[in-house]
Amino acid sequence: MKKKGMNYRKYTAYPTVDIAGRTWPDKTITKAPMWCSVDLRDGNQALPVPMSVDEKVSMFQLLVSIGFKEIEVGFPSASATEFAFVRRLIEQKLIPEDVTIQVLTQAREHLIRKTFDAVHGADRVIVHIYNSTSRQQRDVVFRKNKEEIKSIAIEGTRLVRRLKDESGNAGIRFEYSPESFTGTELDYALDVCHAVMDAWGANAEDKVILNLPSTVEMSRPNIYADRIEWFCRNINDRQAALISVHAHNDRGTAVATAELAVMAGADRVEGALFGNGERCGNMDIVTMALNLFSQGVDPELDFSDLPRIREVYRKCTRMDVHARHPYAGELVYTAFSGSHQDAISKGLKAHQGSDDGKWDVPYLPIDPQDVGCNYEAIVRINSQSGKGGVAYVLEQDYGIHIPKWMQPDFAEVVQAEADRTGEELSPERIHDLFHHEYVKLTEPFILKKCHISWDDEDLERNDEEATIITCTVQMKDQEFHVDAKGNGPVDAFVKGFVEVSALDFSIENYAEHAIGSSAGALAVAYIRIGCTDGRISYGAGIDSNISLASIKAIVSALNRLP
Ligand code: KIV
Ligand code: ZN
Repeated sequence: MKKKGMNYRKYTAYPTVDIAGRTWPDKTITKAPMWCSVDLRDGNQALPVPMSVDEKVSMFQLLVSIGFKEIEVGFPSASATEFAFVRRLIEQKLIPEDVTIQVLTQAREHLIRKTFDAVHGADRVIVHIYNSTSRQQRDVVFRKNKEEIKSIAIEGTRLVRRLKDESGNAGIRFEYSPESFTGTELDYALDVCHAVMDAWGANAEDKVILNLPSTVEMSRPNIYADRIEWFCRNINDRQAALISVHAHNDRGTAVATAELAVMAGADRVEGALFGNGERCGNMDIVTMALNLFSQGVDPELDFSDLPRIREVYRKCTRMDVHARHPYAGELVYTAFSGSHQDAISKGLKAHQGSDDGKWDVPYLPIDPQDVGCNYEAIVRINSQSGKGGVAYVLEQDYGIHIPKWMQPDFAEVVQAEADRTGEELSPERIHDLFHHEYVKLTEPFILKKCHISWDDEDLERNDEEATIITCTVQMKDQEFHVDAKGNGPVDAFVKGFVEVSALDFSIENYAEHAIGSSAGALAVAYIRIGCTDGRISYGAGIDSNISLASIKAIVSALNRLP
């Protein structure tokens, strides 16, 4: 039977823009756009449970603390809660002097009048009106022709103008959105916007904000950018308008859409924290701002405490932030894969020693500390992890620097445990494994007593073999003694042990260091031994005395002989 497949023929490709010599692909962004948060309006109206007045106040205060200077606070003509919230902001004087609130309304007389009632007494307000202009909405929803739709915009604008003039409030500004702009013929959208600008009497001193929404994201971002460049080129008086973009994320490219739109000439960007908003959300301002930050551009918004922002957002909206969300997800500064862990830990070391302080760490586009996250969370261990990551965790959390030559041995231990449990291993668990695998072994050998001394006469004669070791080693029920001389405790112990046991081995690698820096710090020694029969083994010992730590490391390696 023939497979049916998905019916792609049902869909039509979005038209491209007839624009010659487009310039936006050669542009770059060197300055943050004007930001406007729509969390309290577009974000809120998309929530299964909209925010209460108290929650909206918390969200407003969060947005102010981040540094937003324009905040769309609601749709006050649409609901009592929205109206009450706007009144609360104004009456309780919660709006800082450098912040302008924005209120949305449809371009309908009674709603515009109610909106003016809501903002009465506010010093700085953007009254934002919209009507749908797309072919689809004209034909299917409103059943009005182009002229009729245009006159809704003109009438709405005239009324806002009149009410502003009557109020005598010079702090009232005006924004118009040809809603469903992405479904609107470009020349018609421009025609409507020209009519709105005329109705407002826009000029360079009294600019209209023309917000060109990607109400539904219908095309690749480059086509949207072409539309913005075309619009900016063809507008009659560019100085009399601020071009604003408001991208939704239906195709998952809202951030790219807004970024390319800014390259194409947009002055202002509307969006919401973590991309909250209708359907697939609004453009995520956190991502766009931190994208700029990562390129060395001041985002003019403060995301230095993302965990707090995420928390307030969760509380107010009852929405989650995905663990893989750019910059903000709980797992985005964590590497599980061995090669990533290794590269990150090397990159972080190189960064600590660098002179210019420039960030250049593999796999981490920004320094997690810049957004309030910790290094400790960067490397986490599961069965995908490698030796570098395991070593990094012990080093960071416990000051144990396993030498490179021993890292594969311990990584194998950790990997086996991760495979066995199928779970992530915490730093505590990894530290326990290290002790369990090397430090606490008691079979077959236990070091019972150990005395290290120096022969005065040998020292006087400058005899290299001046160290004397006297140990008692228990093996099962027997005890035997190791008495020998050597050029140091390790050498003496090996000589003595080989003499009294059936084992013939030598030290192939050795390393030691203090754990911590206090006077009473412990020391840790690492050993690799090789037997004449070809077997090799690794061991580690910890003691307050470094010589004893070394002897313990040898006994550990002997206990781990295969
Ligand atoms: O997405 C949209 O078109 C809007 C308008 C009201 C600006 O939210
Ligand atoms: Zn929207």
